[in-house]
Amino acid sequence: MNNLLKGKKGIVFGALNSDSIAWKVAEKCHEQGASLVLTNAPMAMRMGEINALAEKTNSPVVGADATSLEDLKNLFETAQAHFGGKIDFILHSIGMSVNVRKGRPYTDLNYDFLTKGWDVSAVSFHKVLQTAYQMDALNEWGSVLALSYMAAQRTFPDYNDMAENKAYLESVARSFGYHYGVRNKVRVNTISQSPTPTTAGSGVKGFGGFLAYAEQMSPLGNATAEDCANYCVAMFSDLTRRVTMQNLYNDGGFSNMGVSNLVMAQMEKAAE
Ligand SMILES: NC(=O)c1ccc[n+]([C@@H]2O[C@H](COP(=O)([O-])OP(=O)(O)OC[C@H]3O[C@@H](n4cnc5c(N)ncnc54)[C@H](O)[C@@H]3O)[C@@H](O)[C@H]2O)c1
Repeated sequence: MNNLLKGKKGIVFGALNSDSIAWKVAEKCHEQGASLVLTNAPMAMRMGEINALAEKTNSPVVGADATSLEDLKNLFETAQAHFGGKIDFILHSIGMSVNVRKGRPYTDLNYDFLTKGWDVSAVSFHKVLQTAYQMDALNEWGSVLALSYMAAQRTFPDYNDMAENKAYLESVARSFGYHYGVRNKVRVNTISQSPTPTTAGSGVKGFGGFLAYAEQMSPLGNATAEDCANYCVAMFSDLTRRVTMQNLYNDGGFSNMGVSNLVMAQMEKAAE
């Protein structure tokens, strides 16, 4: 334990079960000395698994649908009352596409589904930031992170409308990063994570293939949820104060690869 987050107070969105990236982030932040408030959509909370994390990290759980401004306002009020002051960091770890869930292909999207998924996965990040900004709920040098995926830059056919949601999410980090930086020295970034076996991840068609392909393409292999949690700790700590408005790859090198010898060997076999 290095106490990198000693005395810091954070809100962690999106811990559904022990596979969730947010779950690992909460555990690591707690290990590093942070105090936490955990939050998830009321429906996810009914599954109850988050209570084990709450106990382990000694944190209260506050339900909030991240698309509801009323819920977010209540969350920030409750968290500040609990902490007895402002907040130092926020993790937005939320993603859901109704089109993916219902098996609608990208060339036959339902636009009501698209709008709902966009609101949950991308606009909610703006709503979280705007609520915190308007309530002046974050301390100077605070740090806000959301989790993204490489499909924002490159095409992965079955990632579907989540690709646009991630592009929007990354853009919000840049735009809000400006305003929050100027006013409160708060930094806003996204971490673009390797495919990771979680409930949301496994919902993507052909996820096993995604995972294996990325593993074989990346010189360091796929970043795990635990790797992501360690990166989040670094980004919430005072060691990264002037990193802002960035999309940061935590992907074992995947994003800069063309092809690897492992993948080439399989292509050569296929060409025989
Ligand atoms: N798993 C991957 O392969 C992968 C890769 C890159 C990025 N990400 C991103 O990481 C983040 C976390 O996903 P995960 O993989 O840990 O899966 P997960 O299913 O464990 O987490 C997704 C969370 O979003 C929450 N959520 C959904 N709708 C919500 C709402 N309206 N309000 C509040 N919360 C809501 C769910 O309850 C759940 O806790 C997502 O943004 C995801 O896109 C995942």
